[in-house]
Amino acid sequence: MSTPVLTAVAWPYANGPRHIGHVSGFGVPSDVFSRYQRMAGNRVLMVSGTDEHGTPITVQADKENATPQETADKYTRQIGTDLQGLGLSYDLFTRTTTGNHAEVTQQIFLALHRNGYVVPKTTRGAISPSTGRTLPDRYVEGTCPICGYDGARGDQCDNCGNQLDAAELINPRSRINGETPKFVETEHYFLDLPAFTKTLGDWLSTKTDWRPNVLNFTKNLIDDMRPRPITRDLDWGVKIPLDGWRDQPLKRFYVWFDAVIGYFSASVEWARRSGNPDAWQEWWNNADARSYYFMGKDNITFHAQIWPALLFGHNGEGDKGGEPGKYGRLHLPDEIVSSEFLTMSGSKFSTSRGRVIYVEDFLRDFGPDTLRYFITVAGPETQDTDFTWDEFVRRTNFELANEWGNLVNRSISMAHKNVGAIPRPEAPTAADEELKALSRKAFDTAGAHLARSRFKLAASEAMKVVTAANKYISDQEPWKLKDDPTRRDTVLHTALQVVSDANTLLTPFLPHSAQKVHEALGGTGVWAAQPELREVEDLDIAGRVNPILTGDYAAEQAKWESTPIEVGRPLAKPTPLFTKLDPALGETGPEWAPITKD
Ligand code: MF3
Ligand code: ZN
Repeated sequence: MSTPVLTAVAWPYANGPRHIGHVSGFGVPSDVFSRYQRMAGNRVLMVSGTDEHGTPITVQADKENATPQETADKYTRQIGTDLQGLGLSYDLFTRTTTGNHAEVTQQIFLALHRNGYVVPKTTRGAISPSTGRTLPDRYVEGTCPICGYDGARGDQCDNCGNQLDAAELINPRSRINGETPKFVETEHYFLDLPAFTKTLGDWLSTKTDWRPNVLNFTKNLIDDMRPRPITRDLDWGVKIPLDGWRDQPLKRFYVWFDAVIGYFSASVEWARRSGNPDAWQEWWNNADARSYYFMGKDNITFHAQIWPALLFGHNGEGDKGGEPGKYGRLHLPDEIVSSEFLTMSGSKFSTSRGRVIYVEDFLRDFGPDTLRYFITVAGPETQDTDFTWDEFVRRTNFELANEWGNLVNRSISMAHKNVGAIPRPEAPTAADEELKALSRKAFDTAGAHLARSRFKLAASEAMKVVTAANKYISDQEPWKLKDDPTRRDTVLHTALQVVSDANTLLTPFLPHSAQKVHEALGGTGVWAAQPELREVEDLDIAGRVNPILTGDYAAEQAKWESTPIEVGRPLAKPTPLFTKLDPALGETGPEWAPITKD
């Protein structure tokens, strides 16, 4: 049975190139998942884009002496290139500064407004006395009124995790120049979160099989639900589509409000570009569809609480009831898949402290699949995990090059040298059948893990097949069977069949090398499809050109099953699949990210 599967991937801020910490959270896991789902025959829609509004962008633009749009244009291209290079198979990777996104965001807001789930309130906002400009909440620092931590920000306390108001901070000061901000009255729209207490509580109580880190987080979520502002005093963002608000130079939606709506707006944009503008309905208006959201752990609140509340409110399904907006009843998240953090020497990656490994540098020197593999088998799936060059070298050399690369190389080389083609098997022995049964069975076990986003376990099931095949070849010693070509060919056939199976099992993790193995086994055409970066015209804003990632994944051949290899198919001499890394790299790191003692 084919299920419509929405893979909703967190939107990276367009404020800098991506480092490997970012892509270990949202990037690689979501792609492994989507590739598996497509191979299993499901109809996947994988969407995301760059998050381009709010202070994360204006602050970077100020630093670069550029406009926010220029900054966003620069980094959306850079990020698109990073993600394309990693082979992340988005159906659409777009951006939040499209005309389509603004329109969809405003429509969702209007439905929330009609249903009474957003309400205007007068609050106190900070301004800088020296410049007269508004000081966004996250640029105000002070002591947390709840836990007493001194480095709390005006939007949230990183120590106790509570959402705050800048005006509540004790001893507030500007993070820009240290001065004491002035608080003035300002009007904002608030999302009436208390009006979702029952709806969200009931809904969350049905979500018992989410990852423990997400469940832990959601346990206390509804205890302290306060109205949350969804607009800001800022000149960069989506405008508020109401009389008296629309033309105000300093009123915009809060960046997180429009960003989460991106999952839906990107689906609409994808449909409009596909030639069937209603095609998004299969994922969004369909109770049988399944939606999976991928992110780092700092994004859990927005996906497990805010986004569901917006959807319930839009649908008229909060505690106050209502009517669905113009898009009909929209599908709630089925699963929130959150990674923990990839750290370096125990701390978060930090651009400002130079503790950072950029995706671009990594791909240039080591290629995409070694990074995808490392993130999968040694990444932060369920706990914060340190990246070390030493571990990267070990995983690459021992697991990818020695175990997998060698298996491919020696089995294809022997068949090439002795037969020149895929050999014919005859009278298989128990050992042959046992190995083939093992690899066939791995599709069920690894598939079940992948469907539940247990990527480490899935990869280890695939690698068990590789290990068993290497042992089989060592036991059978086909190189000693010169005088018994029938048996030799049977052994080689068995080995190649299992190489083919293992390659299929590894395809979600290692799509680039899987294509090479497919060709080394004499296959032609696209085995695992890759995304392309394209420049396209904005659908609604004349003269605007946007870079997008998209791809033709329906054409790929990879299927989640054992495919019998074709006897007689010519084989060429294989080239090595993975280059071994110099162990010295493990001690020094590369020039562009040297290991320092600190
Ligand atoms: N830009 C945010 C971050 O990097 C993530 C936004 S995800 C979305 O933390 F849900 F808002 F889309
Ligand atoms: Zn606190």
